[in-house]
Amino acid sequence: MIPRALHWDASRRTLCILDQRLLPGQVVERALTTLDDVDDAIRTLAVRGAPAIGVAAALGLVAAFARDGAPRREALLAGIDRLARARPTAVNLPWAMQRLREVIARTAADGAALLDALSAEAERILAEDVAMCDAIGAHGAALVADGARVLTICNAGALATTGIGTALAPVYTAAAAGRRVQVIACETRPLLQGSRITAWELQASGIPVTVCTDSMAATLMREQRVDLVIVGADRIAANGDVANKIGTYALAVAAHHHALPFYVAAPSSTVDPATATGARIPIEQRDGGEVRRLGDRQLVPDAAAVHNPAFDVTPADLVSAIITDRGIVRPPYRFTR
Ligand code: MRU
Repeated sequence: MIPRALHWDASRRTLCILDQRLLPGQVVERALTTLDDVDDAIRTLAVRGAPAIGVAAALGLVAAFARDGAPRREALLAGIDRLARARPTAVNLPWAMQRLREVIARTAADGAALLDALSAEAERILAEDVAMCDAIGAHGAALVADGARVLTICNAGALATTGIGTALAPVYTAAAAGRRVQVIACETRPLLQGSRITAWELQASGIPVTVCTDSMAATLMREQRVDLVIVGADRIAANGDVANKIGTYALAVAAHHHALPFYVAAPSSTVDPATATGARIPIEQRDGGEVRRLGDRQLVPDAAAVHNPAFDVTPADLVSAIITDRGIVRPPYRFTR
C-alpha cells in the first residue's frame, strides 16, 4: 500500500496530514484546523514536497476558514498571502495560492458562498495533482527497464505529493507492470528525507530500497551499481534549469561524468515560465541548527559557522530529460505559459 501525505474530508472540510517530521519512528496523523497550524506544518516540513505543500495550503486555507461561517474576502486574501510566503522555492505554493486569488477575483459572492467556491477550487487542485502523478508514472515508466536500479535524493514520492509521487511515479508504475525495480535512496542531509521518508514509503509499498549516504552516490555510479537517476523538482525555470533538494546538482555532475541518464520528474505546476533561468529562483536558507544538531547530539562546534541552503540549481544542460504529466521533454528546454 502506497502511503498518503494527507487526507481531505470534503463533507466536513477537515484536513489531516501525516506528520513527516516523525517518520520513520512514529506514524502520526495531525489535523490542521487553523491558519497557524497550516503555516507551521509547511514551514517545519510536517507536510513537505513541492506539490504536497501547494495542495495542503489550498485545502488548509479552506479548513481554517470552515469554522468561520461567513469569512470576509479580506481575511481570506490575507490568509492566502500568508501561506504563499511559508516557503520560497517550490513554485507550486504560490501557484496554488494564485488559483485561489483568481477564484476570489471572479466570485461576486462573499461569506459562505465564496468559501464554497474556494473549496471547489482546492479540491480541483488536489484531483489534478493525483492525475498529474499518474501521468508522470505512465510516461516515465518507459525509462525504467526490468531490473533497473534507480538512484534518487530527498523524497519525491507519494509523500511529497497527493498521488503516487513524481520521481517515484515511474518506479511505482514500472513495478505495477511487473518489472523488477530497486531504488537507491540518498539519505539527504541535513533533514534526511531520503533515509527517513523515501525508504519508509518504499518499504511500505513493497519496493526494494537501499539507503546510501549522500557522499556515496558518485562511487556507486563508478562501480556500475546505478542505471539511472530520477529526481523531483521544486521549480523549473523557462530554460530548463531545475531547483531541487540540496545535493541534486552534485548527483547531476556525477551522472554526467559516468554517462548515466539524469531525469527530472515534475508536474506542470512545478514549471515556472515566468522565471527565465535558475539564477532567478529563490533558494530557501534554513536554520543552521538543522546542520549543527542531530536530535540531542551536537555535530558542529559552537564557534563554527554553518551554511544550510535547502535547495540547489541543476543547469539544464545536465538534465537528460524532464518527465512531465504531458510527456517526456528533451533539450533544448523552452517552457512557455
Ligand atoms: O524540503 P523538502 O523536503 O520539501 O524538499 C522536497 C524536494 O526537494 C523534492 O525533491 C521536491 O519538492 C519534489 S517533490 C515531488
